[in-house]
Amino acid sequence: MLVSATEMLKKAKAGHYAVGQFNINNLEWTKAILLTAKELKSPVILGVSEGAGKYMGGYDVVVGMVNGLLKDLDIDVPVALHLDHGTVEGCNKCIEAGFSSIMFDGSHYALDENVQKTTELVAKAHGKGMSIEAEVGSIGGEEDGVIGMGECADPKECKAIADLGVDFLAAGIGNIHGKYPANWKGLSFETLDAVQQLTGDLPLVLHGGTGIPADMIKKAISLGVAKINVNTECQLAFAAATRKYVEAGKDLEGKGFDPRKLLAPGFEAIKATVKEKMELFGSVGKA
Ligand code: 13P
Repeated sequence: MLVSATEMLKKAKAGHYAVGQFNINNLEWTKAILLTAKELKSPVILGVSEGAGKYMGGYDVVVGMVNGLLKDLDIDVPVALHLDHGTVEGCNKCIEAGFSSIMFDGSHYALDENVQKTTELVAKAHGKGMSIEAEVGSIGGEEDGVIGMGECADPKECKAIADLGVDFLAAGIGNIHGKYPANWKGLSFETLDAVQQLTGDLPLVLHGGTGIPADMIKKAISLGVAKINVNTECQLAFAAATRKYVEAGKDLEGKGFDPRKLLAPGFEAIKATVKEKMELFGSVGKA
């Protein structure tokens, strides 16, 4: 059964580790992530961007697929199904469809409007027993075609949004989605520390988990990060494994590629990536 992410992230923050949010795009990704979480006895969060939700056919399809896998694969670790960077409309749809968690990304609104919209969604999500994440300080990089620059959040704005009752908070600390440029200055631990001082026990979220050096990940966890989002690294691993298989030319004597065999190397590559991240984040054995 899907659970909200609140308890698993409270436990993670108190225990000084982080739970991975791995974004899903199809059956193979979802199955690879869930099976790895089960094998490693780790809690896990499945992230769904609005674009990925559309690609898979809609949020009802996603909920049906995930619930089916939880049952048929006997997944016995805590799993949250979370909308990633949701709009108000997307959040409302996921609340209705049976997700267990949402992120409302109001970072591009003025603070007043972010506060008003977040307040309404907190009440709706909590009314259904779901968790809700908010964002302050735009996280740069490209996400579903929208390119933003990495910003550092204002800690006082973080406190204002935290006080609305969100369950965990993404604060921009110089992190960006996708690969980091060669001249990237690194995470701003000064900002993270200031945010944590004002938000106390609230679990903090680090987006853009791909390509952040291990020592920075560990330091971020020590300063209150309890959820780390990873997407691009799974994409890179999946693409490389699939390309290798296709280039090896193992089709069925001119009948094309068997889709199950074609996607098997990518499936294994995602499992390996997720395992490496869960070990780094310290969530292994914490289910
Ligand atoms: P990456 O694609 O950089 O791993 O970031 C994922 C993310 O933050 C999703 O919200």
